Amino acid sequence: MMDCVALSCKVCTSWQGLLLTVSLLTCWLIPTTSQLTIKSVPPIAVEGENVLLFVHNLPKNVKVFSWFTGARVLKSCEIATHVIAINATVIGLSHSGRETVFKNGSLLIKSVTSKDSGYYTLRILDANSRPKIIRTEFFVHSPLLGYKKHLTPSQLKIALVPPRVEENINVILWVFQMPKKLQAFAWHKGVLPLDHLKIASHSFLTNSTMLGHAYYDRLTVRNDGSLLLLNVTKNDTGLYTLRTISVDLKLEWAIIEVQVNSK
Ligand SMILES: *[C@@H]1O[C@H](CO)[C@@H](O)[C@H](O)[C@H]1NC(C)=O
Ligand SMILES: *[C@@H]1O[C@H](CO)[C@@H](O)[C@H](O)[C@H]1NC(C)=O
Ligand SMILES: *[C@@H]1O[C@H](CO)[C@@H](O)[C@H](O)[C@H]1NC(C)=O
Ligand SMILES: *[C@@H]1O[C@H](CO)[C@@H](O)[C@H](O)[C@H]1NC(C)=O
Ligand SMILES: *[C@@H]1O[C@H](CO)[C@@H](O)[C@H](O)[C@H]1NC(C)=O
Repeated sequence: MMDCVALSCKVCTSWQGLLLTVSLLTCWLIPTTSQLTIKSVPPIAVEGENVLLFVHNLPKNVKVFSWFTGARVLKSCEIATHVIAINATVIGLSHSGRETVFKNGSLLIKSVTSKDSGYYTLRILDANSRPKIIRTEFFVHSPLLGYKKHLTPSQLKIALVPPRVEENINVILWVFQMPKKLQAFAWHKGVLPLDHLKIASHSFLTNSTMLGHAYYDRLTVRNDGSLLLLNVTKNDTGLYTLRTISVDLKLEWAIIEVQVNSK
C-alpha cells in the first residue's frame, strides 16, 4: 500500500525534520451543479479519525466503480470494486480491512494513520464502459507532529478577497487570528505538505520567506501570513492550506477553496 499512496514515509520523515528545524512547511474538484466530484471529509485528519471520501453526483448510468490508493489506476493499488447491478463488492490488494465502499460511490476509511495520507482515485465505468477517473487527497497528522487529540479547534481563519474570483485578477488569501509566538508558517496548494506543492513558507526565527517555484513572479507574502496572488488562472483553482507552528511546537491549520471562474 505504501507504494501506492503519494506520500511515502520518506516524505513524512523529511517533513517532520523540516518542522523541527526552521522552515515549516492537492486535486479536489469543485462542484458546479451536477458535476461528479469527490471531497475528503475531513481533508486534514488526526490519527485514529475516520475519513469519508464523499462522492457527489455519481452518474445514474454507472455500472461499476473502483477505488485505488494513489493517483493512478493500478491493479495492485485497488482497494475495492463495486458492481452496482448485483450489489457486490470485490476487495482489492490495497484493502487494509478498514475501508467500506457505499453504493453511492463514497468510501469510508476508518482509524486512519499517517500512512494513509495521499491521493485516492475513483474510476467509474458507465453503460458504455467508458472510464472516468477522478481523484481526491487527504493528510493525516501523526501525534508525533505535536498535535494532541481533543485540542480546542484552531482559531486560524482564511478569507478570500474578492469572494468571487475570475481569471486574470489578483486575489488575497486573508489570514485572521494568526496564533501568537510562531516560529514558522507555510502555505501549500492542496492539503498535502509536499515540497513540490509548496507555495510559500516563512520563518520568524530568521525572518526569511521562501516562495515555491511556480510562484516566484506573482506572489507576495505578508507578515500576517496573508498571500497576494497576482493574475490567477484556472490552474489556481483548488484547495489552499496554511499551517503554522508555534515556538512550543503547537500546530494549527486552515484550508480555503478557491474556484477561478471564466470571465
Ligand atoms: C453515501 O452513503 C454513505 C453511507 O450511507 C453516507 O454517509 C453518505 O452521506 C452518502 N453520500 C452521499 C453523497 O449521499
Ligand atoms: C447490498 O449489500 C449489502 C451488504 O453487502 C447489504 O447490506 C445491502 O442491504 C444490500 N443492498 C441492496 C439494495 O440489496
Ligand atoms: C523582516 O525582514 C523584512 C525585510 O525582508 C523587514 O522589512 C522587517 O522589518 C523584518 N522584520 C523583523 C521583525 O526583523
Ligand atoms: C496574466 O496572465 C496572462 C496569461 O494567463 C497574460 O497573458 C497576461 O499578460 C498576464 N497579465 C499580467 C498583468 O501579468
Ligand atoms: C495549467 O497546468 C497545466 C498542467 O499542470 C499546464 O500544462 C498548463 O500550461 C497550465 N496552464 C496555465 C495557463 O498555466
